[in-house]
Amino acid sequence: MKAEADPNTIVYFNGEYMPINEVRIGILTHALHYGTGVFEGIRAYWDEDSDDLFLLRAREHYERWKQNCTILHIDVPATAEELAAITAELVRRNNFRTDLYVRPLAFKSAERIGLAPDDQDSYFIVVMPYGAYFHAEKGLDVCVSSWRRIDDNAIPARGKFTGAYINSALATDDARRAGFDEALFLNDRGHVAEGSTCNLFMVRKGRLITPPVTDNILEGITRESIIEIAYRELGLEVVERSIDRSELYLCDELFLTGTAVGMAPVVSVDHRPVRDAAIGPIARRLTQLYYEATHGHLPAYRKWLLPVYSAARAAKAPRPIMNVA
Ligand SMILES: Cc1ncc(COP(=O)(O)O)c(C=O)c1O
Repeated sequence: MKAEADPNTIVYFNGEYMPINEVRIGILTHALHYGTGVFEGIRAYWDEDSDDLFLLRAREHYERWKQNCTILHIDVPATAEELAAITAELVRRNNFRTDLYVRPLAFKSAERIGLAPDDQDSYFIVVMPYGAYFHAEKGLDVCVSSWRRIDDNAIPARGKFTGAYINSALATDDARRAGFDEALFLNDRGHVAEGSTCNLFMVRKGRLITPPVTDNILEGITRESIIEIAYRELGLEVVERSIDRSELYLCDELFLTGTAVGMAPVVSVDHRPVRDAAIGPIARRLTQLYYEATHGHLPAYRKWLLPVYSAARAAKAPRPIMNVA
């Protein structure tokens, strides 16, 4: 799905709340020319039963963002907790009551020609309504891309650097033009790495397997969530090991995970059906559990959620009057 922000959306830019159409970023901005930006993607899910919106693992996303920023020597002058609180405030100022996507971006902001990065940085946070990434209730048809996943020694693969996403954009463009939903990358050693914007899991002989973090993958937060849910709820211990391309054709189940994507089962790879080309039982169960966990229905995973409206209502509520006998 593609999402565009309404021009009146309130955003957070360099420490101030302001309408998006008042933000000015010049055409000579370093990051625009050289890809020197670091971004994040965070989800918030509206839950009708709770009459509340839940920011999902916001603190972990902001911690990853700040860590990745250090690789580019960008300092975001706020803690992960403060950034999560700012995001909740942004949601309230926009009065959003639907599923959302949050896009924080920190970047080299000097406006002049010249590659050497300097110490002029900017950052913003934009929040916008965002539905399902894939409309593939029957599962996804994917292909192995002819583009290799970026190597960590060329561009750090575990960071969300704006310039690095040329890699994902090329692979996605080819895959969509060829009629597939998503592209899978092999890494420079020929092992399966991940999708263009998501991590990958396969089920083989009853074991849940995912590539290790040293195979040029992005260390996904949803990947971690699924590993925890699979173990806690289904008793499945995830094996982290390299995956060969031909295993994709022989596995029992395959699915993708990511903040935007959520849980996305795959039913074919390179026109070869995964088992009987139907969503497998483990992927189906994990999809359901992930939905429930992210919508506040499972107490064990409430720790991942920052309630946006109920927390503010509780803070404003008058204190109960104590009856003193
Ligand atoms: C290349 C890539 N891999 C994997 C992921 C999944 O990571 P996460 O679950 O933290 O969103 C993303 C999305 O952030 C991504 O862009």
